[in-house]
Amino acid sequence: MRMQSYILLLAGLIGINACKADKDYSTPATDNPLERPAHFPPAHYTHDKNTYSQAGFELGRKLFFDPLLSANNTISCGSCHKQNEAFADAGNALSKGIYGKTGIRNTPAIFNMAWNTSFMWDGGVNHIEVMPLSPLTNKVEMAETISNIVYKLNRHKEYPTLFKNVFHRDSIDDQQMFWALAQYMSNLVSASSRYDDVYTGKASFSPEEQEGYNLFKQNCSACHAEPLLTDYSFKNNGLDYQFADSGRYRITRNEKDWGAFKVPTLRNIAVTAPYMHDGRFATLEQVLHHYADSIIQTPSLSTLLIKNGMSGLHLTADEQRKIILFLQTLTDTKFLTKDGLSQ
Ligand code: HEC
Ligand code: HEC
Repeated sequence: MRMQSYILLLAGLIGINACKADKDYSTPATDNPLERPAHFPPAHYTHDKNTYSQAGFELGRKLFFDPLLSANNTISCGSCHKQNEAFADAGNALSKGIYGKTGIRNTPAIFNMAWNTSFMWDGGVNHIEVMPLSPLTNKVEMAETISNIVYKLNRHKEYPTLFKNVFHRDSIDDQQMFWALAQYMSNLVSASSRYDDVYTGKASFSPEEQEGYNLFKQNCSACHAEPLLTDYSFKNNGLDYQFADSGRYRITRNEKDWGAFKVPTLRNIAVTAPYMHDGRFATLEQVLHHYADSIIQTPSLSTLLIKNGMSGLHLTADEQRKIILFLQTLTDTKFLTKDGLSQ
């Protein structure tokens, strides 16, 4: 009798734990949106004065997908950042903005932004609450002025009420707009890939994926650090002698940063081709080929990409293939298809 109740108790505990493990962290999660995945480190952005609410998230989402925010009402943030492409812009090496203009860089994916310590390929923006200033006013992106956006929002038939419900102020100002966008972007959390299931002990890799994972840990994770798959540092990963875009150097003017770019996350990497800050590689095969044999040695090349005194990671074709099999486990289909994240 006593034994039986122990077993029941045990089953109950397992039941509760299983339930916890299956929790949906690709926010807006149902109960507590700001609760972060248990296997992630603490988030960098903690909302500070920008108190999170579901209505604030939805307002940020509406703004993100509204072309009203551009000079000629044709381009929204969502024109370049698309959910099923992990909020990147698959297929376009360089971004395509207003009046058919082409930008200078590849559109990065947007998720897990609450962990970002800086924004942009060169880290030129350091806070999520000012981040949208750049695309909104950039001449080849949305080309609008902040004062005109605020004017349009205040005259709009829905926005005044929506903003008032969230921020309880009489009129809309730029800070409220930035706050709403931050509530939305910082709560796009991708943490439900098969990799996450393995990382949290709920699943296992196939033998070849496991070999790929081991190779990844030996060759890549010094920069693409687990579990976010980036360490947020800036590195020159050997793409060029003559960088058309000097990257981090533009911000710091330090020779060591010549051609260094922010280490991007590799989560959802299989759906965001083409790759690198200028979209130069169309496939993961090309990326792996670059790391294996085509690293260009310059004074600012990261020493992590020099092996046995020679630049490059010297991976065999079979090793490259296995690393790609591993990279494919980083796709979070739940996040890419979840309702409520796009409009
Ligand atoms: C024309 C295409 C385009 C539009 C429109 C656009 N973006 Fe971007 N976004 C980009 C590109 C390209 C970058 C990288 C820019 C760079 O590194 O210089 C970027 C970078 C970002 C980043 C930084 C991501 C990171 O990991 O560092 C965020 C966040 C972001 N955009 C949010 C927005 C928001 C919010 C809007 C609307 C207000 C917006 N974007 C509109 C193309 C676009
Ligand atoms: C020294 C640090 C470092 C190491 C080691 C490293 N990377 Fe990178 N990786 C970077 C940086 C920096 C970028 C962005 C460079 C750019 O765009 O100019 C990048 C970009 C990428 C991209 C393109 C991401 C995107 O969104 O466009 C992929 C894929 C990638 N790396 C995979 C790997 C793999 C696989 C390995 C191991 C074989 C590896 N990296 C090792 C620093 C590193």
